[in-house]
This record gives sequence, C-alpha cells and structure tokens, in this order.
Amino acid sequence: MRLSNKNKRAYFVLLSPFTIFAQSIKLETIILSIDTYMQEKIIILDFGSQTTQLIGRRIRELNVYCEIVPYNKFPQGDDSVKGVILSGSPFSVYDESAFKVDLSQLRGKYPILGICYGAQFISYSNGGKVEPAGTREYGRAHLSTFDKSNVLFKDVRENTQVWMSHGDTITAIPDNFRVIASTDKVKIAAYQAEGEKMWGVQFHPEVFHSEDGTQMLKNFVVDVCGCSQSWSAASFVDTTVAELKAQVGNDRVILGLSGGVDSSVAAVLLHRAIGKNLTCIFVDHGLLRKNEFKNVMHDYECLGLNVIGVDASEKFFKDLEGVTDPEQKRKIIGRDFVEVFNAEAHKITDAKWLAQGTIYPDRIESLNITGKTIKSHHNVGGLPEEMHLQLCEPLKWLFKDEVRRVGRQLGIPDHLISRHPFPGPGLAVRILGDITPEKVRILQDADDIFIQGLRDWKVTDEKGNETTLYHQVWQAGVILLPVQSVGVMGDERTYERAVALRAVTSTDAMTADWAHLPYEFLAKVSNDIINKVKGVNRVTYDISSKPPSTIEWE
Ligand code: XMP
Repeated sequence: MRLSNKNKRAYFVLLSPFTIFAQSIKLETIILSIDTYMQEKIIILDFGSQTTQLIGRRIRELNVYCEIVPYNKFPQGDDSVKGVILSGSPFSVYDESAFKVDLSQLRGKYPILGICYGAQFISYSNGGKVEPAGTREYGRAHLSTFDKSNVLFKDVRENTQVWMSHGDTITAIPDNFRVIASTDKVKIAAYQAEGEKMWGVQFHPEVFHSEDGTQMLKNFVVDVCGCSQSWSAASFVDTTVAELKAQVGNDRVILGLSGGVDSSVAAVLLHRAIGKNLTCIFVDHGLLRKNEFKNVMHDYECLGLNVIGVDASEKFFKDLEGVTDPEQKRKIIGRDFVEVFNAEAHKITDAKWLAQGTIYPDRIESLNITGKTIKSHHNVGGLPEEMHLQLCEPLKWLFKDEVRRVGRQLGIPDHLISRHPFPGPGLAVRILGDITPEKVRILQDADDIFIQGLRDWKVTDEKGNETTLYHQVWQAGVILLPVQSVGVMGDERTYERAVALRAVTSTDAMTADWAHLPYEFLAKVSNDIINKVKGVNRVTYDISSKPPSTIEWE
C-alpha cells in the first residue's frame, strides 16, 4: 500500500523526557539489549508497506507471537521461528532500488506467505512476470474462484471480499507455481508453489475489508506453521519475568516513571522479577495535572514500588520564565528533566541498567527498512555515558492495548491502566504563551473539572455495557488561551481568560476526531469551570480533527 505518513512518532518519542534520557546511552549498549524472545514466533519481513504493522496486529490477535523486522534482518539461527511473512512495499519489484531478500535462505526451511509486493517478489524472483496493472487495482474485490481444498482457504466463504491495493500485477507465475484464487479482474490473486509451503496473495488479508483475511492468516500461522495460539497477557508475564530474572540477575535497575501506563506497567513487571533491586524515579516538573504527583506516588507505593519522588518544579518554572516558543519550552523541559533525573540516578552508584516503558509502536520506525536497528535519536550523545547503563525495555514488543492487558494481568488498578496519554512536557504545551505558576494553577483547576466530569459521566456503549465518557475518549485536556474577554458575573464586569476543552477519539493518535460529547455534559463542565475556577470567564470546545489539526495545541 502506498499511503503517506511520515515520521510522526519520531517527533513525540524524541520529545518524551524519558526517551531524552535514553538518548544519553551509548548505541552499543542498546544493541546489546536487543534480546531475542524465546518462544514460537512468526517473522514478518518488512518491505516498507504502511500495513505491515497491521499484519502484526492481526497475528497477535490470534494469540500468536510475531515480530516485524526489516526485510534484510531475518534472525538466522533463531529456532523459535515457525514461519515467515513477506509484507507489501512502496516499490515495484523491477525498481532498481527495490528491497530484495535472498529467498534461498528461507525457502524449504520455513513456511512462507508473501503479501502484495511479497507475493510479486517471490513470483518475479523465480521467473514469473510482474507488470504495471492497466489501471491501479485498488479497493474491494471478490475471490470469484478459489481452491477450497487449499489449506490457506480453509473456512473461507464463497466469493469472499478482499482488499486490493497495488499498481503492479503478476501476469505470469513460474512453471511450478499454481494459481489458487482469482477475482474478476485479477487472474493471479493467489498462488502456491507446488509441493512447497510457500504462498503468495496479491490482496491484503490484514486489512479490515478483507472479510476472511484473519481466517486466512490463521490458516497460515496455525494450520501451516503449527503455532499454538498460546500468546496471552498471562504467558507474557510469566515468560518476561523469567527472562528479566535471567537478564538482570542481581543487578540494580533504575526506571523513570511518568505516571503513564507504559512506564507503570514496565515498573510493576520489573518489580515482580527483581523486587527491591528496582529503583524508580518520578520527577515532578510542576506541569502535571492537579494533585497528580501526590496521587500517583501513592498508587506506586501501594503497588510496592520503591520510588524516589523528586519535586523539581521550582527549577522548571525558573528556567521556563518568559519563554513562549513551543519548541523552546520542550527543549528546556527535556534538558532540565535529564539534569534532575541524572542527578538522582547518579546517587544509585551500583546501577547497571536503565529500564524504560518503550512499546512496540515507539520502535517500529526504529526498525526501519533501511536496516538500521536503532533510531538515530537514541544515539544522540552528550549525556551520562560514564554510567554505562544497559537498556532494558520489557514492553518493547507490545502494542498499547497489549500493555494495558498485561497491566491488568499484573493487578494494576484500572484508574492507572486506563489513563489517557499525557504529553511529556505536560501542561507547558497546553498553556499558550509564557508559563507562570498562576497560569498552571488555573489550568490545573479547569482540567481537573473537565477530567473528573468525564470520569463521572456514565454512558452505555454500543454493546449495552455501562461505561464513562472518560473511557470513550482517547485523550482529553484543557488548553489555556492567551486571550482575555469581557464577561459579567453578578453585577460586575469581568475581563478574564478563555480556555478551550479538547477531547478526541483515536486508535493510535496518528489521526483523531473531536469527540462528540453530549451538549448537556459540555454545558455542565462549562458552568462548573466558570463558577469555580477563578480567572476564567469563557469556555470553548475545540471541534478540529487531526489532520489537519493536531491533538495538542502546541
Ligand atoms: P499531536 O499533538 O502531535 O499529539 O497530535 C499526538 C500524541 O502525542 C502526544 N504528544 C507528546 N508526547 N511529548 C510527548 O511525550 C511531546 O512533546 C508531545 N507532543 C504531543 C499527544 O499528547 C498525543 O497523545
């Protein structure tokens, strides 16, 4: 699939304070920590398609563990690999710069499934023909004929709908390949190499619109590759705890907590593995939500974590004084954060590891198809190299919802697990213009009313279950605008601040829609904010989608 989507995540990973700390760690130490997960797995070779991640998602949903690796980084010698999937690509197979693999390294050793470009590449490199399609084959199509006896199509319905997205098409397959499915327009929609466990499909089974796509992937990973579908939050916890024990042993580990889901789950997992040898550091930059530092510290203590809480808000406020440029704010916060974290970390003189709550989507661009294993931003030097810490990232193979499932499995309370994402620089990027303690106070009060309101407002979801508005939105917050407007309270004329409420629905923050919150709810929140938050006399609701807007205002 050729969809455009550039470097979004690089931006926010770069700006997360904890990641900035990771930038300080030497590249070699990071590579050392890229360990191999010892359990049966499917390898997805990434040729650069925008849907590669979706293939991974679908397979994980089948409770089968898989890893996406750059097309040229197949983990040779890893006995746990049960099968290989070749993804789509933005290239044509005959482009000079097209990504290629040496199939002889895989063929006969593992079952192989090529998807779109993957299918074209397998056919083309064995003597088949791939040519530009007369018209681009894009969108819904139906498998008008397919070989029902082929294992790939077990339990697939007649005339099933599939999703096509390719500019090239396979016009001839090698002699020893056999066509096993066609649509009205695409004769070679799928093929199998005779007598081999090697298939190619020109459609995208991973895409939602391929109605039986998950079934086909299941047929491949379970029936052909023999995976046992035993990947679950519970099995992840057991295996990871055992691995962490083996990896870290009796070493001391430092972990930066942010109050967010990922770092909290990473901490509890590590705590289960190494107990008191884990020291967590939670820095308060003064730009957290109202009472958040206190509440989250309390939660962490209840979870038995050994946490050092550092109130560094004065330093941050001083350094941010008079700064209005958003990027400048982020830089100052990132720098101060590293300084404060670093000073604390240095006190733990025998620490050998730095743990982070990095999750899979944070790394997908790192494991990019250029073959580089680590994002360049992880290799920006200048920070505490002398600590020689190795990096430990126990959640690095998980997607966000899997992290939440693992968190629940570990017994972390729901209010921590279901928290909305919150930007590393905190309220600093929600106060437009310069930052003062008074503005932070106003914003914290307004935000608290909004968030608590979302938590308290009960609704019924489409399945008839009771939930809250808070659970229905991906992320919400209040923005303090650099605008004052005239109002009237009692007999008095006021000239006070305006705030904007922001609530979005999303699945990954890459795109987002403004949440269609009930008018009655908005009316109540607006009323409460204006009545209770001194300094605010006007409330607006942001009805912009992303793109073209972003979730945060700065
Ligand atoms: P945008 O505003 O780009 O945000 O649509 C997408 C997601 O990223 C979060 N975000 C940040 N996270 N440091 C972070 O750690 C940042 O500087 C930052 N800026 C945005 C944002 O809250 C949303 O979840």
